[in-house]
Amino acid sequence: MKHIRPFHQTPVITIDGPTASGKGTVAAVVAATLGFHLLDSGALYRLTALASARYNIEPDDGDALAELVADLHITFREGLAQLDGVDVSTEIRAEEIGNRASAIAVHAQVRTALIARQRAFRKPPGLVADGRDMGTVIFPDATLKVFLTASVEARAARRHKQLIQKGFSANMEDLLRDLRERDARDSNRVAAPLKPAADAKTLDTSGLSVDQAVDQIIGWFHLV
Ligand code: DC
Repeated sequence: MKHIRPFHQTPVITIDGPTASGKGTVAAVVAATLGFHLLDSGALYRLTALASARYNIEPDDGDALAELVADLHITFREGLAQLDGVDVSTEIRAEEIGNRASAIAVHAQVRTALIARQRAFRKPPGLVADGRDMGTVIFPDATLKVFLTASVEARAARRHKQLIQKGFSANMEDLLRDLRERDARDSNRVAAPLKPAADAKTLDTSGLSVDQAVDQIIGWFHLV
């Protein structure tokens, strides 16, 4: 028989993993299949990165960045990310913004300033949260924790396809170098490094389709 949770414990599925591991796509399909809300936590870091570039705040100024987060006017509507009421969904996907997001994400002050905004997404009937520290820091009591991996080559190929589809230019060698650098920075930082939670299930998506990865996660969820 299925375990009945107290009503205040809205279920959360966390999906963490390195950049371009397929988290975003897989998380969106899992959320849509279950009728759950979706938190793309990377988008919050990317929005902060975009705002910091606009306001000329240096990526190494952790205190100024944390103040910026406190004042950020962010909304997500029907999958679109808005900054100050203007849709910036495409802009935040640029590689330079992703790299800047990774650089500002090393600051503990920035991460702390973003905690409440992330936890606010936990609403009935449930949440799928994707990022780097969803299972380790933001939702340590998650119902199911998944850590997605894929080889750096498979991830670079996916990112290449995504960027071209979105009309950005992309070069495989640059992408491989950027992915390796970003993996190293996200994994080696002191504040909430990228790593599987002790109780996470790891899924290597290198040879899996989106549907196969989604089926596995939903299968695990129904077993919890
Ligand atoms: O998932 P993404 O590529 O959109 O994330 C962009 C950067 O934001 C990533 O390189 C590191 C940072 N990030 C983070 O530190 N913690 C998260 N939960 C999500 C993203």
